[in-house]
Amino acid sequence: MSDQIHSQAREVLSNQEGPFKDLEKLVRKYACTPYLRPIADHTRLAFADAEQFIADFYTKRHAGSAPHPVILDSGCGTGESTLHLAHQFPGYPVIGIDKSAVRLEKASQSVSSTIRDLPSNAFYVRAELIDFWRLALEKVTAGQWAIPYHALYYPNPWPKQSEATRRFHLHPIFPTLIRLALTTELRTNWEIYAQEFAQAASLLSPNANVTIQLIKEGEPITAFERKYKNACQQLWQVIIVNSQKD
Ligand SMILES: C[S@@+](CC[C@H](N)C(=O)[O-])C[C@H]1O[C@@H](n2cnc3c(N)ncnc32)[C@H](O)[C@@H]1O
Repeated sequence: MSDQIHSQAREVLSNQEGPFKDLEKLVRKYACTPYLRPIADHTRLAFADAEQFIADFYTKRHAGSAPHPVILDSGCGTGESTLHLAHQFPGYPVIGIDKSAVRLEKASQSVSSTIRDLPSNAFYVRAELIDFWRLALEKVTAGQWAIPYHALYYPNPWPKQSEATRRFHLHPIFPTLIRLALTTELRTNWEIYAQEFAQAASLLSPNANVTIQLIKEGEPITAFERKYKNACQQLWQVIIVNSQKD
């Protein structure tokens, strides 16, 4: 895995000095091209587990009619933020998603090695985000789920210009990602990533309220955030609030 993170948490190094030059062209191209890559079977199975967890969660609470709110923590890594969000949103199921079995294993270990249990509204699933998001959007458009908040904390930045199209906002998945949630929050230690993400979101959702700001206060809520803060790096937060009418 290429996380562009080093044990000393060095700042992101890139041969880009500003936002990717073809950003608008790419974002607009993907906005009108359906993304047809087949969904991997393992993510379908993982998604079915998440669906079952959410259905059981609401059945136990005798919830009313759909859509049922679901919080997503995409690329949760070792899962700290999923616990944080589960406490922040106690009435909603919170799904931490990551493709790395090693990191998710650490998430389970850290829960079992502390006195705290995994909050009953938190669930980890190993899956490919590019596929999970498309399945989740089907649930949203079918009126079965609503996603009030989607966390995307410190995704791999892919800082080399030649790798730019691996960034989520320069990838064909972006139109799906941006439609999923009412509020999407990206955190990153690379200012250019934050600027690009905000720019791409504004292009696709012109009615959304898109803000970009430095994270100044608060305890770290993810493992990477802690490393970056310990290394005194600047951290950015992009918050996209979609218009309810879109
Ligand atoms: C830089 S780490 C950040 C982890 C965590 N959010 C944190 O802040 O500590 C990025 C995480 O995203 C996961 N990831 C990257 N691309 C992914 C993808 N396409 N599908 C699922 N997980 C992915 C990686 O496995 C990794 O755990």
